[in-house]
Amino acid sequence: MSAPLTLPAPDASALVHSEHLRGLITAEIEAHQGWLPFRRYMELALYAPMLGYYVAHSRKFGRSGDFVTAPEVSPLFARCLARSCEDVLTQLGGGMILELGAGSGALATHLLQELAVLDALPERYLILEISPDLRQRQAQRLASLDEHLRQRVCFITELPAEGTFSGLILANEVLDAMPVERFCVWPDIPSPRVKQLGVVMHNGAFDWQARPAPASMRHHIEYLYQESGHCWPAAYCSEYNPMLAPWIKALADSLHQGLVLLIDYGYPRREYYAPQRTQGTLLGYYRHRVVQDLLLWPGLMDLTAHVDFTTVAEAALDNALALIGYTTQAWFLLDAGLEQVLAASPTDSMAAQLAQANEVKRLTLPGEMGERFQVMGLGRGLHAPIRGFNGQDLRSRL
Ligand SMILES: C[S@@+](CC[C@H](N)C(=O)[O-])C[C@H]1O[C@@H](n2cnc3c(N)ncnc32)[C@H](O)[C@@H]1O
Repeated sequence: MSAPLTLPAPDASALVHSEHLRGLITAEIEAHQGWLPFRRYMELALYAPMLGYYVAHSRKFGRSGDFVTAPEVSPLFARCLARSCEDVLTQLGGGMILELGAGSGALATHLLQELAVLDALPERYLILEISPDLRQRQAQRLASLDEHLRQRVCFITELPAEGTFSGLILANEVLDAMPVERFCVWPDIPSPRVKQLGVVMHNGAFDWQARPAPASMRHHIEYLYQESGHCWPAAYCSEYNPMLAPWIKALADSLHQGLVLLIDYGYPRREYYAPQRTQGTLLGYYRHRVVQDLLLWPGLMDLTAHVDFTTVAEAALDNALALIGYTTQAWFLLDAGLEQVLAASPTDSMAAQLAQANEVKRLTLPGEMGERFQVMGLGRGLHAPIRGFNGQDLRSRL
């Protein structure tokens, strides 16, 4: 398939790669009577063994990739987060850090370096990453750390056993990379008509097809509709992450005491399912461009949806976690000590000073990552405040 006019064309080997994944997805569509729920399409496009976007060996992160995450923007992000980690580990009298979905390993690298400066190192720094390719890249990046830091890093393949983990569980932009269900609703009276969106083959290309949603999905959408507090227009389409609540439960089960820190773009439910957001939040990213056609080039572009932070909070409370805080990334970084971190990081040239000012802008300005990204803290057995959550408190908006 050729590139739409505004997108740079993938090279020939990338297109061959995408064709292989297209073949695999096509076979699965055929094996399912010609129709695949979008959630499964997204799961294959991102995580199919050897071929999925996060699994295959493409660049992904940074300027030459498809998107830039906060740890890639600047080490300042990790250095602020280190203050919150220090608070948790000090309150618990020690403990570990577990990072989920560690990307390029940038956050782990800078966090360990800063915690060493603060004299607040965790006993171990665990990484749980589902992509074998990224695990390898993380290991390579962390190999450059000083020996006494590197020795603390340990890759794990499943969450620590029930009730055994003490410390901090950290996930930056992990929830937005989980497969979602897409739906469309006609809010008829007395009950809405709900359709599930799936992928079919049409004239040799992937296409969308809506089918009546199964009862479990219908009930979930009716719940979202009622709880959103809005009237949706006809043919209102959006998405939800069916793994969100089970994932939070799994983290809660694992946690003996400590903090779960989730950072991602998202909204409280009322904003997520606002009537004007008629196509949801799902987007594709390719070479820093937004791709509207979500079925273009499977395996070559990222697919991502915002996080419904109300569902996260509900799942946490259902599993005996306390909602410690919910705020924007800008407020979190400021309260965690961004100004002090900057004061302790003098730059030695005008160019370096400008670069640092630029990084601060990207991390904190409302039009950049400052407000779109939000931070939620879920805790157990913590009694003192955690830096990051003592500024703006958005919990009442959930
Ligand atoms: C958008 S990237 C973010 C990477 C990194 N945290 C950062 O901020 O640069 C999403 C990451 O989450 C990983 N991931 C997705 N689902 C996961 C899960 N259930 N458990 C652990 N990692 C997961 C992906 O493989 C990838 O490393």
